[in-house]
This record gives sequence, C-alpha cells and structure tokens, in this order.
Amino acid sequence: MVPGFLSPSLSRLGLWASGLILILGFLKLISLLLRRQKLARAMENFPGPPTHWLFGHALEIQQTGSLDKVVSWAHQFPYAHPLWFGQFIGFLNIYEPDYAKAVYSRGDPKAADVYDFFLQWIGKGLLVLEGPKWFQHRKLLTPGFHYDVLKPYVAVFAESTSDMLDKWEEKAREDKSFDIFSDVGHMALDSLMKCTFGKGDSGLGQRDNSYYLAVSDLTMLMQQRMESFQYHNDFIYWLTPHGRRFLRACQVAHDHTDQVIRERKAALQDEKEQRKIQNRRHLDFLDILLGARDGDGIKLSDADLRAEVDTFMFEGHDTTTSGISWFLYCMARYPEHQQRCRDEAREILGDRDSFQWDDLSKMTYLTMCIKESMRLYPPVPQVYRQLSKPVTFVDGRSLPAGSLVSLHIYALHRNSAAWPDPEVFDPLRFSPENASGRHPFAFMPFSAGPRNCIGQQFAMVELKVAIALILLRFQVTADPTRPHLFSSHIILKPKNGLYLNLKKLPEW
Ligand code: HEM
Repeated sequence: MVPGFLSPSLSRLGLWASGLILILGFLKLISLLLRRQKLARAMENFPGPPTHWLFGHALEIQQTGSLDKVVSWAHQFPYAHPLWFGQFIGFLNIYEPDYAKAVYSRGDPKAADVYDFFLQWIGKGLLVLEGPKWFQHRKLLTPGFHYDVLKPYVAVFAESTSDMLDKWEEKAREDKSFDIFSDVGHMALDSLMKCTFGKGDSGLGQRDNSYYLAVSDLTMLMQQRMESFQYHNDFIYWLTPHGRRFLRACQVAHDHTDQVIRERKAALQDEKEQRKIQNRRHLDFLDILLGARDGDGIKLSDADLRAEVDTFMFEGHDTTTSGISWFLYCMARYPEHQQRCRDEAREILGDRDSFQWDDLSKMTYLTMCIKESMRLYPPVPQVYRQLSKPVTFVDGRSLPAGSLVSLHIYALHRNSAAWPDPEVFDPLRFSPENASGRHPFAFMPFSAGPRNCIGQQFAMVELKVAIALILLRFQVTADPTRPHLFSSHIILKPKNGLYLNLKKLPEW
C-alpha cells in the first residue's frame, strides 16, 4: 500500500507521465502527417487506384491474388502508380523498363520502411548496407562468387538434390500428389549450409539442426510479419507470441553463427587444422569471408562477419527454393518443354552419372526455360528504394529526393509492351536472336544495376544442377485439384504448398 503522504506526488507523477506520452504521441502524429503530405505531393502527377481512408491499398495487397491485382492496375495506369501501405507509407510502384532503369541503374539506398524488418536477424549485411560501407563489403565479398569457388559446389548441390530425390522415390510410390516446396526448401538450405559453413564432409550435427530449424522459422515469421500490419511496430511485435518466437529463433541463429566463426578462427591459428582446411575439397563461404582484406589490408569485424553470413543464409535459400519449385510447376503445366529439357540433360550427361561444371553452359534449352519461369514467377517479386536524389522519368514526370519507389518485378515481367502475350510460357523469348533487341531492364529477376544480386551465378548453378537431376529421375505433372495461390511480398511462395504428381522414370 502507498503511504498517504506519498500519494499526491505519485498521482502528480502519473499525470506528468500521461501528459508526456500524449505530447510525444501528438508530435509523432504530426511528423507522420507531414511525411504523408510530402510523399503524396511528390506523387501528385501519378494517378492511381482509389485508396481506403485508413488502410490505403493494404487490404487489396493482403488479399489472395494481390499480385495479379497490381498487374490489372498496371494496365489501367501505364508506367507507374502510387501504392499506399496504410496512411503513412506511400511508394511509387513502377513496372516499365525505362522507369526501372531510371531508378535501378543508380545505387539509391533501400527503403528503411521495408528493409528494417530484416535487421533484427540479418543485421547490417550487404542487402541493407548503403554508401561506402556497402561498396567496401561488395568488393570484399565478390571473390566469394568467382567461378573457381563455385565449381566445386556442383558436387555439393548434386549431393543434396540426390538425398531429396531418394525421399521423393518413396513419396512417389504412394501415387498421389505431394507438396514439393517444403522438400525443395530443405534441400536448398542443406546445400547452402554446406557451401557457407563447409558442413558437407561431416554432415549436420545437432547444433546445426537447431540452426536449420531456426532459419526456416525466421523466414516464415518474417514473411508473416510483413503481411500483418498489426505486427509492424517493433514494440507491439516483440510483445506478441510470434514476436517472442522470432527473438528466440534469432538468438539460436546468432549463437550458431558466432560459434562457427569462433571455431573457424581458432582453427586458423592451428597449423594442423589450417592444413586440413587447405586440403578440403572446396573453400566455403566462411573461409572466403575470413580471408577477405580490402586495399588497406582491413578485414571484416566480427559483427560484419555475422551480418554477412546471416544475410547469405536469408537471401540464399528461400530464393533458390522458389526458383526451383516454380520451374517444376511450369514443367508440370508444359510437358513438351519438360521433355525437351530432359532430353538435353540426357544428351549432355551421356553415360556418366554426374554433372561437371562444363556441362552447365551446354544446358541451353533448360536455361531458357529457367529464365521464362523466372519471368512468370520471379522469386523476389518486389524490391524497394528511397531516392537519395531526384529522378526524372522518360515521360518528363519526376520524383524528388526522399521519395519511396517500389519496383514490381512481377508486373514488369508481365508488361505487354515488353512481353507480347505475357501469360504464355515461351522459352524462345530468351533465344539469343529474340533476347538481343530487348530492353536490358525488361527482365530483372536478380534486380539490375549496382545493387543487383551478388549470388546470381551461385543461384543459376544450383538451379541447373538440381533441376536437371530432378527431371532425369522424375516426370512431373500438375494436380488440377490443388490450384496454386501465392503468398508473396518478400519471396514468391505458394500459400498452401505446391502439390505436384511425381512419377519415377525408368533408368535410361
Ligand atoms: C533464384 C535465386 C535468387 C534470386 C531470384 C535473387 C534475387 C535478388 C534480388 C532481386 C536482389 C535485389 C534485392 C533488393 O534490391 O532488395 C538480390 C540481392 C541480393 N542477393 Fe539474391 N537472389 C537469388 C539468390 C541469391 C543467393 C543464392 C545469394 C547468396 C548466396 C544471394 C545473395 C544476395 C545478396 C547478398 C543481395 C544484396 C546485394 C547488394 O545489395 O549488394 N541471392 N537478390
């Protein structure tokens, strides 16, 4: 109980505190309103779909089929239109090659309103860094994707894919469709852990399995958070069961990364261990990061190392999972292209039983099919920037510095001015003759310009190896009783799994 003589001062304190909260709330509201006014004024020359007084376009965006909704808006409003997530976050949504070029050929920073959701887990790694530090990291990390480093990964991808295919043989015996997306996800994460931490030779231990589960959980929770407006505020989110689960998974992921870095650093001090690392069949990504030095001999700090490893684990597995899975979906729908890819893979392999690095460049039809499936189903459907300086577009309209821009890759890839009959699956769009005259910013699955995907070669190698091996072992057909629905935003994923029928092919 509070003694009587204290109660007047306590209640005064309470009054002061409530007053302060009210004033702070009021100031925050004013700053949000001013921001809204500034963003709205910047986009006043761009007509767009009507907005809800409170949610903006958020309700439409949250609904199933929102990606196709944006495609229909793109028909109505050529080049670009405003897109409001609630009342205070408004992007100019663009989907036209010249518009994309005007912004994405420059190195403007990422829009904090979106990318700050990633910080708790991946920290300030390459994906969210900007300015000179981004430039320094990009230079330090680029050698990690040199083809000499990627070459041995062919065997790593083949090993993880074969494990998955053995499991699929059992599932296929049941003679009914099953969700391939989650299995491909496991396979891609398994490969990435081998390439990042070098777990290929010894297999995954208990600690790695916890990490593996934490990473799967984090990507799922992050996607869910982006889609749920009530979770956008940090303070509210950390108080919810989902927010607390996210923090716990972050802790597991960070502890794992820190420990692997510590152990690897200790091993590098030991001559015997050093020899073992040198004799390993491939350098893993951590070896490259630990050895990276800039022109002045400066290396990455421990915090930077962790951020880069975590960024790679985030960017590197869900994206390839999406790429491989939607490709299989396309093959199931278009069996004639599936058969051509299979024939090509068989011819390249001949009587050998594993693919080599040099085989990959011979997979020309398969590569065209991969590109066509990434056109229709881009694994990263939308990317966001905040302009550091004004931009003027081809039609003379402009945006001032500070404006938010969203590149809608999904709608850009269905822009009928660049892609006649955009809904038709036609790999020949990517034949050298047909591709030569195309606008360089019409096809951007890996984004473009200085902030393009650093992992695109890695991804293409993984996609080719995994897909060729899958098609050699199985015939895939669609399950018409399970139509796909997108759950999107960060990575293009199916809402309720991606169900396909798989039939084991006879040995040829
Ligand atoms: C099919 C697979 C992939 C697709 C479609 C893809 C797509 C993209 C896109 C669109 C961006 C630009 C993001 C933005 O502007 O916000 C990006 C950036 C990035 N990607 Fe990928 N990615 C894939 C695979 C990978 C892999 C395998 C890795 C690493 C192992 C990776 C690492 C990164 C990193 C670090 C960035 C940031 C680069 C920078 O800003 O300098 N990605 N990716």
